[in-house]
Order: sequence, then structure tokens, then C-alpha cells
Amino acid sequence: MPYKNLQKKVSDIISQEKLEVTNRLFEICELLKTNIDYYDWVGFYFANHKEKTLHLKAYAGDATDHTIIPFGKGICGQVAVSNNNFMVADVKAQDNYIACNIHVKAEIVVPLFKDGKNVGQIDIDSNTANPFTKEDELFLEWVNEQVATIL
Ligand code: SME
Repeated sequence: MPYKNLQKKVSDIISQEKLEVTNRLFEICELLKTNIDYYDWVGFYFANHKEKTLHLKAYAGDATDHTIIPFGKGICGQVAVSNNNFMVADVKAQDNYIACNIHVKAEIVVPLFKDGKNVGQIDIDSNTANPFTKEDELFLEWVNEQVATIL
């Protein structure tokens, strides 16, 4: 798993100050999807706390209908409320799950904190069963910390 190389590349993207934040997020999504073989869809959702909804801002992978997700709904919506990482080894075992496409077998969602507030999340879908480990969690927490610095 090339996490160290990826960290360097994420840092390089983050520091491209001339690029709009959304474009930097898009580049990070592409980077992770391309370099980690079991990351089949990578996206960033951001919270509208007033409306209690999550909004898809950047992603790599197939287009999804789920660009707005109410707090509490699906894996993403649950993380908006719990403030905790949610690693799902088998999406079929989840009652509160929003299917994006039939190939997805597993998912991980890690909240993104800005000044201690849960402002969004990174969401990874995998077409491989049970692929995620603690290493993914730590790596994605680190990615979100970097992203928080440009929000
Ligand atoms: N599966 C997610 C919905 C978002 S898609 O994965 C892009 C969920 O249950 O919240």
C-alpha cells in the first residue's frame, strides 16, 4: 500500500494555492481512486447544518444520484450525526444504507473536522468485500486534516 507516496502527492495538491479548492478536492479523489486498487469511488460531501443535509462537492468514479443526503440517512448521513468513522465490511449487512450501484460491496466514511466541527466527510466505496483496515482509517483521517487546512 503506497500510503507514504500518496501522502506526499496529497500534500502537493493541497499546496496548489492557485487551484480552486473544489478542483484540489477533485484531484485528491482521482489520486486515491487511481492508486488504491480497492478504492472504486471516492468523494467528499460537505454539511449544510441548517438544512441538515450533506452535499457532494467532488468525486471520482461513476456519477451518483445521491448528491444530497439528509443527516441520519445511509452510512454518510449517520457519520454526519455520530462524528465517528464508519467502516462497513459488507454493505448488504447494513439496514441504513443507500446503494449507489450494484457493484459496491464495502464502504468507509471518515468525518472531516474544521475547528472541531464535523463539516463533511470523505466517502470511499469498494467493489471488493471487506477491504478496509485501520491503515485506511488513519490515512483518510490524515487526508481530511490536510483538506481542513484549505477550507
Ligand atoms: N452509500 C452511501 C451513499 C453515498 S454513495 O456511496 C456515493 C451511504 O449509504 O450513505
